[in-house]
Amino acid sequence: AEKIIIDTDPGIDDAMAIFFAFQSPDLDVLGLTSVFGNVPVKMAARNAVTLCDIAEKDIPVCEGLGLPWVGPESGYAHFVHGDDGFGNIHPKLSDKPIDPRSSAQFIIDTAKQYPGEVTLVAIGPLTNLAMVLKMEPEITKLLKGVVIMGGAAQVPGNVTPVAEANIWNDPHAADIVFSADWPLTMIGLDVTYAVSYNQEYLGKLAEVNPKLGGFVHQAAQFYAKFYSEVFQNSDEEVCYFHDAMALAYVIDPTLFDMKQGKFRVATDPLCYGQTTFAPLDKMMSPQWEDAPVMQAALKVDEERIKKLFMDTYAL
Ligand code: BDR
Ligand code: CA
Repeated sequence: AEKIIIDTDPGIDDAMAIFFAFQSPDLDVLGLTSVFGNVPVKMAARNAVTLCDIAEKDIPVCEGLGLPWVGPESGYAHFVHGDDGFGNIHPKLSDKPIDPRSSAQFIIDTAKQYPGEVTLVAIGPLTNLAMVLKMEPEITKLLKGVVIMGGAAQVPGNVTPVAEANIWNDPHAADIVFSADWPLTMIGLDVTYAVSYNQEYLGKLAEVNPKLGGFVHQAAQFYAKFYSEVFQNSDEEVCYFHDAMALAYVIDPTLFDMKQGKFRVATDPLCYGQTTFAPLDKMMSPQWEDAPVMQAALKVDEERIKKLFMDTYAL
Protein backbone atom coordinates (compact mmCIF):
# COMPACT_ATOMS: atom_id res chain seq x y z
CA ALA A 1 0.00 0.00 0.00
CA GLU A 2 1.10 3.58 -0.72
CA LYS A 3 2.25 5.49 2.35
CA ILE A 4 0.44 8.82 2.56
CA ILE A 5 -0.03 11.79 4.86
CA ILE A 6 -3.25 13.77 4.48
CA ASP A 7 -3.07 17.51 5.17
CA THR A 8 -6.65 18.55 5.80
CA ASP A 9 -9.25 21.08 7.06
CA PRO A 10 -12.26 18.85 7.83
CA GLY A 11 -14.72 19.70 6.23
CA ILE A 12 -17.39 17.43 4.75
CA ASP A 13 -15.57 16.38 1.58
CA ASP A 14 -12.43 16.04 3.72
CA ALA A 15 -14.32 13.54 5.89
CA MET A 16 -15.45 11.65 2.80
CA ALA A 17 -11.84 11.61 1.55
CA ILE A 18 -10.31 10.53 4.86
CA PHE A 19 -12.77 7.65 5.38
CA PHE A 20 -12.16 6.58 1.78
CA ALA A 21 -8.41 6.51 2.45
CA PHE A 22 -8.89 4.56 5.70
CA GLN A 23 -11.06 2.02 3.90
CA SER A 24 -8.72 1.55 0.95
CA PRO A 25 -6.37 -1.47 1.06
CA ASP A 26 -4.13 0.45 -1.37
CA LEU A 27 -3.41 3.33 1.03
CA ASP A 28 -1.52 3.35 4.31
CA VAL A 29 -2.41 6.60 6.10
CA LEU A 30 0.56 7.45 8.34
CA GLY A 31 -1.03 10.51 9.92
CA LEU A 32 -3.36 13.46 9.47
CA THR A 33 -2.00 17.00 9.59
CA SER A 34 -4.49 19.80 10.06
CA VAL A 35 -4.60 23.33 8.71
CA PHE A 36 -7.11 26.20 8.91
CA GLY A 37 -9.48 26.52 5.96
CA ASN A 38 -13.07 25.36 6.07
CA VAL A 39 -12.86 25.81 9.86
CA PRO A 40 -10.32 27.31 12.32
CA VAL A 41 -7.25 25.10 12.81
CA LYS A 42 -8.11 23.92 16.34
CA MET A 43 -11.47 22.73 15.11
CA ALA A 44 -9.77 21.13 12.08
CA ALA A 45 -7.45 19.15 14.38
CA ARG A 46 -10.29 18.15 16.71
CA ASN A 47 -12.45 17.12 13.75
CA ALA A 48 -9.57 15.08 12.32
CA VAL A 49 -9.12 13.08 15.57
CA THR A 50 -12.86 12.62 15.73
CA LEU A 51 -12.84 11.09 12.24
CA CYS A 52 -10.06 8.72 13.40
CA ASP A 53 -12.16 7.77 16.43
CA ILE A 54 -15.24 7.07 14.36
CA ALA A 55 -13.20 4.89 11.99
CA GLU A 56 -11.32 3.29 14.94
CA LYS A 57 -8.01 4.31 13.40
CA ASP A 58 -5.16 5.05 15.78
CA ILE A 59 -2.74 7.36 13.93
CA PRO A 60 -1.09 10.68 14.82
CA VAL A 61 -3.10 13.85 14.23
CA CYS A 62 -1.19 17.14 14.33
CA GLU A 63 -2.19 20.77 14.59
CA GLY A 64 -0.84 23.00 11.85
CA LEU A 65 -0.93 26.64 10.92
CA GLY A 66 -3.99 28.71 11.69
CA LEU A 67 -3.30 31.82 9.64
CA PRO A 68 -2.46 32.41 6.01
CA TRP A 69 1.19 33.11 5.08
CA VAL A 70 0.40 36.81 4.59
CA GLY A 71 -2.57 38.80 5.75
CA PRO A 72 -5.30 38.47 8.36
CA GLU A 73 -7.29 35.51 9.63
CA SER A 74 -9.32 33.83 6.92
CA GLY A 75 -13.12 33.90 6.77
CA TYR A 76 -13.71 30.09 7.00
CA ALA A 77 -16.49 28.28 5.14
CA HIS A 78 -19.12 27.53 7.77
CA PHE A 79 -21.80 28.41 5.24
CA VAL A 80 -20.61 25.45 3.14
CA HIS A 81 -19.58 22.96 5.83
CA GLY A 82 -21.71 23.97 8.86
CA ASP A 83 -20.73 25.46 12.23
CA ASP A 84 -19.00 22.21 13.18
CA GLY A 85 -17.38 21.52 9.78
CA PHE A 86 -19.63 18.45 9.51
CA GLY A 87 -22.89 19.93 8.23
CA ASN A 88 -24.18 20.63 11.77
CA ILE A 89 -24.66 16.97 12.63
CA HIS A 90 -22.48 17.62 15.71
CA PRO A 91 -20.87 14.21 16.26
CA LYS A 92 -19.44 13.51 19.70
CA LEU A 93 -15.94 14.99 19.49
CA SER A 94 -12.98 12.82 20.43
CA ASP A 95 -11.01 13.91 23.49
CA LYS A 96 -7.87 12.08 22.36
CA PRO A 97 -4.74 14.24 22.58
CA ILE A 98 -3.33 15.94 19.49
CA ASP A 99 0.26 14.92 18.60
CA PRO A 100 2.65 17.53 20.08
CA ARG A 101 4.46 18.05 16.76
CA SER A 102 3.35 20.73 14.34
CA SER A 103 1.86 19.55 11.06
CA ALA A 104 4.98 20.69 9.18
CA GLN A 105 7.32 18.92 11.62
CA PHE A 106 5.36 15.68 11.33
CA ILE A 107 5.52 15.81 7.53
CA ILE A 108 9.30 16.38 7.63
CA ASP A 109 9.92 13.65 10.24
CA THR A 110 7.82 11.11 8.39
CA ALA A 111 9.39 11.88 5.00
CA LYS A 112 12.83 11.34 6.59
CA GLN A 113 11.71 8.10 8.19
CA TYR A 114 10.63 6.69 4.79
CA PRO A 115 12.71 8.55 2.18
CA GLY A 116 11.18 8.40 -1.30
CA GLU A 117 8.15 6.46 -0.10
CA VAL A 118 5.64 8.99 1.20
CA THR A 119 3.03 10.83 -0.87
CA LEU A 120 1.71 14.02 0.71
CA VAL A 121 -1.92 14.62 -0.18
CA ALA A 122 -3.02 18.19 0.57
CA ILE A 123 -6.78 18.79 0.65
CA GLY A 124 -6.82 22.17 2.41
CA PRO A 125 -4.99 25.50 2.01
CA LEU A 126 -1.27 25.02 1.31
CA THR A 127 0.10 26.87 4.35
CA ASN A 128 1.66 23.83 6.07
CA LEU A 129 3.29 22.78 2.79
CA ALA A 130 4.93 26.19 2.38
CA MET A 131 6.19 25.89 5.96
CA VAL A 132 7.62 22.43 5.23
CA LEU A 133 9.59 23.91 2.30
CA LYS A 134 10.86 26.71 4.49
CA MET A 135 11.86 24.46 7.41
CA GLU A 136 13.43 21.68 5.31
CA PRO A 137 14.30 22.59 1.71
CA GLU A 138 15.58 19.02 1.19
CA ILE A 139 11.96 17.86 1.45
CA THR A 140 11.67 18.26 -2.33
CA LYS A 141 13.89 15.18 -2.70
CA LEU A 142 12.40 13.17 0.15
CA LEU A 143 8.77 12.79 -0.87
CA LYS A 144 7.51 10.34 -3.47
CA GLY A 145 4.83 12.77 -4.58
CA VAL A 146 2.70 15.76 -3.64
CA VAL A 147 -0.94 15.64 -4.71
CA ILE A 148 -3.04 18.74 -4.22
CA MET A 149 -6.78 19.28 -4.36
CA GLY A 150 -6.87 22.90 -5.35
CA GLY A 151 -6.93 25.40 -8.14
CA ALA A 152 -8.52 25.40 -11.54
CA ALA A 153 -6.58 24.96 -14.77
CA GLN A 154 -9.15 25.67 -17.46
CA VAL A 155 -12.40 26.35 -15.60
CA PRO A 156 -13.64 29.20 -13.34
CA GLY A 157 -13.06 29.35 -9.58
CA ASN A 158 -15.58 28.65 -6.83
CA VAL A 159 -14.85 31.52 -4.42
CA THR A 160 -14.32 34.21 -7.01
CA PRO A 161 -14.65 33.92 -10.79
CA VAL A 162 -10.96 32.99 -10.89
CA ALA A 163 -10.04 31.45 -7.52
CA GLU A 164 -10.63 28.03 -6.00
CA ALA A 165 -11.13 27.92 -2.20
CA ASN A 166 -7.94 26.14 -1.08
CA ILE A 167 -5.75 28.45 -3.16
CA TRP A 168 -7.78 31.58 -2.36
CA ASN A 169 -7.39 30.86 1.37
CA ASP A 170 -3.62 31.25 1.05
CA PRO A 171 -2.32 32.22 -2.38
CA HIS A 172 1.10 33.23 -1.03
CA ALA A 173 1.64 29.75 0.35
CA ALA A 174 0.32 28.24 -2.88
CA ASP A 175 2.78 30.35 -4.86
CA ILE A 176 5.65 28.93 -2.79
CA VAL A 177 4.35 25.39 -3.23
CA PHE A 178 3.87 25.73 -7.01
CA SER A 179 7.32 27.30 -7.38
CA ALA A 180 9.14 24.42 -5.67
CA ASP A 181 10.74 21.69 -7.71
CA TRP A 182 8.96 18.64 -6.33
CA PRO A 183 6.76 16.02 -8.01
CA LEU A 184 3.51 17.97 -7.94
CA THR A 185 0.12 16.84 -9.21
CA MET A 186 -2.91 19.08 -9.21
CA ILE A 187 -6.43 17.74 -8.93
CA GLY A 188 -8.50 20.89 -9.38
CA LEU A 189 -12.02 22.03 -10.14
CA ASP A 190 -11.59 20.88 -13.77
CA VAL A 191 -12.22 17.35 -12.55
CA THR A 192 -13.83 17.78 -9.13
CA TYR A 193 -16.85 19.65 -10.54
CA ALA A 194 -17.18 17.05 -13.28
CA VAL A 195 -18.59 14.46 -10.90
CA SER A 196 -21.66 15.14 -8.76
CA TYR A 197 -23.28 12.90 -6.16
CA ASN A 198 -27.05 12.86 -5.72
CA GLN A 199 -29.22 11.67 -2.83
CA GLU A 200 -29.44 8.20 -4.30
CA TYR A 201 -25.66 7.88 -4.31
CA LEU A 202 -25.36 9.27 -0.77
CA GLY A 203 -28.06 6.90 0.46
CA LYS A 204 -26.26 3.96 -1.10
CA LEU A 205 -23.00 4.97 0.63
CA ALA A 206 -24.86 4.79 3.95
CA GLU A 207 -26.34 1.46 3.01
CA VAL A 208 -23.04 -0.23 2.12
CA ASN A 209 -21.25 1.27 5.13
CA PRO A 210 -23.65 2.44 7.85
CA LYS A 211 -20.90 3.83 10.09
CA LEU A 212 -18.65 5.76 7.69
CA GLY A 213 -20.96 6.10 4.70
CA GLY A 214 -23.77 6.92 7.14
CA PHE A 215 -21.73 9.79 8.57
CA VAL A 216 -20.97 11.15 5.09
CA HIS A 217 -24.62 10.80 4.06
CA GLN A 218 -25.80 12.80 7.07
CA ALA A 219 -23.09 15.46 6.95
CA ALA A 220 -23.57 15.91 3.20
CA GLN A 221 -27.20 17.01 3.58
CA PHE A 222 -26.21 20.56 4.59
CA TYR A 223 -23.50 20.54 1.94
CA ALA A 224 -25.89 19.44 -0.82
CA LYS A 225 -28.34 22.18 0.25
CA PHE A 226 -25.60 24.75 -0.08
CA TYR A 227 -24.69 23.51 -3.55
CA SER A 228 -28.25 23.38 -4.86
CA GLU A 229 -29.64 26.55 -3.26
CA VAL A 230 -26.69 28.90 -3.11
CA PHE A 231 -24.20 27.73 -5.64
CA GLN A 232 -26.18 26.28 -8.51
CA ASN A 233 -29.63 27.58 -7.90
CA SER A 234 -31.23 24.28 -8.87
CA ASP A 235 -33.76 21.88 -7.35
CA GLU A 236 -31.70 18.73 -7.54
CA GLU A 237 -29.65 18.34 -4.39
CA VAL A 238 -26.22 17.15 -5.47
CA CYS A 239 -22.83 17.71 -3.93
CA TYR A 240 -19.18 17.39 -4.90
CA PHE A 241 -16.45 15.39 -3.15
CA HIS A 242 -13.49 17.47 -4.32
CA ASP A 243 -11.00 16.16 -1.77
CA ALA A 244 -11.69 12.46 -2.25
CA MET A 245 -10.61 12.75 -5.87
CA ALA A 246 -7.03 13.61 -4.87
CA LEU A 247 -6.91 10.37 -2.86
CA ALA A 248 -8.37 8.44 -5.80
CA TYR A 249 -5.51 9.76 -7.94
CA VAL A 250 -2.95 8.13 -5.62
CA ILE A 251 -4.74 4.80 -5.92
CA ASP A 252 -5.40 4.88 -9.67
CA PRO A 253 -3.92 7.69 -11.80
CA THR A 254 -5.50 6.13 -14.91
CA LEU A 255 -8.84 7.56 -13.75
CA PHE A 256 -7.64 10.95 -14.99
CA ASP A 257 -6.33 12.58 -18.17
CA MET A 258 -3.22 14.43 -17.09
CA LYS A 259 -1.40 17.29 -18.77
CA GLN A 260 2.09 18.52 -18.03
CA GLY A 261 2.60 22.23 -17.60
CA LYS A 262 3.50 25.07 -15.31
CA PHE A 263 1.35 26.77 -12.72
CA ARG A 264 1.47 30.29 -11.37
CA VAL A 265 -0.64 31.73 -8.58
CA ALA A 266 -1.71 35.38 -8.49
CA THR A 267 -1.57 37.26 -5.20
CA ASP A 268 -2.64 40.73 -6.33
CA PRO A 269 -6.05 41.88 -5.04
CA LEU A 270 -7.97 41.64 -8.31
CA CYS A 271 -6.89 38.09 -9.23
CA TYR A 272 -6.27 36.96 -5.64
CA GLY A 273 -5.82 33.18 -5.66
CA GLN A 274 -6.12 32.71 -9.41
CA THR A 275 -4.19 29.73 -10.77
CA THR A 276 -2.95 30.06 -14.32
CA PHE A 277 -1.94 26.91 -16.14
CA ALA A 278 0.43 26.93 -19.09
CA PRO A 279 0.54 23.55 -20.80
CA LEU A 280 4.08 22.63 -21.82
CA ASP A 281 3.12 22.41 -25.48
CA LYS A 282 1.93 26.04 -25.50
CA MET A 283 4.16 29.10 -25.76
CA MET A 284 5.08 30.68 -22.47
CA SER A 285 6.30 34.13 -21.61
CA PRO A 286 9.85 34.42 -20.22
CA GLN A 287 8.78 34.96 -16.60
CA TRP A 288 7.51 31.37 -16.63
CA GLU A 289 10.90 29.91 -17.50
CA ASP A 290 11.95 29.23 -13.91
CA ALA A 291 8.67 27.65 -12.90
CA PRO A 292 8.98 23.89 -12.43
CA VAL A 293 7.00 21.42 -14.53
CA MET A 294 4.09 19.71 -12.84
CA GLN A 295 0.93 17.99 -13.99
CA ALA A 296 -2.75 18.78 -13.75
CA ALA A 297 -5.82 16.60 -14.17
CA LEU A 298 -8.09 17.87 -16.95
CA LYS A 299 -10.60 15.01 -17.29
CA VAL A 300 -11.86 12.17 -15.14
CA ASP A 301 -13.68 8.91 -15.79
CA GLU A 302 -16.88 9.65 -13.87
CA GLU A 303 -18.28 6.16 -13.83
CA ARG A 304 -15.10 4.47 -12.67
CA ILE A 305 -14.33 6.96 -9.91
CA LYS A 306 -17.86 6.75 -8.49
CA LYS A 307 -17.58 2.98 -8.51
CA LEU A 308 -14.18 3.13 -6.80
CA PHE A 309 -15.61 5.24 -3.95
CA MET A 310 -18.65 3.01 -3.54
CA ASP A 311 -16.72 -0.28 -3.75
CA THR A 312 -14.16 0.97 -1.24
CA TYR A 313 -16.78 2.14 1.26
CA ALA A 314 -18.43 -1.28 0.87
CA LEU A 315 -15.27 -3.18 1.91
C1 BDR B 1 -12.02 22.72 -1.51
O1 BDR B 1 -12.45 23.74 -0.62
C2 BDR B 1 -12.97 23.18 0.56
O2 BDR B 1 -14.17 23.82 0.92
C3 BDR B 1 -13.16 21.72 0.30
O3 BDR B 1 -12.97 20.96 1.48
C4 BDR B 1 -12.13 21.41 -0.74
O4 BDR B 1 -10.88 21.11 -0.14
C5 BDR B 1 -12.85 22.77 -2.78
O5 BDR B 1 -12.67 23.99 -3.43
CA1 CA C 1 -10.70 20.42 2.22
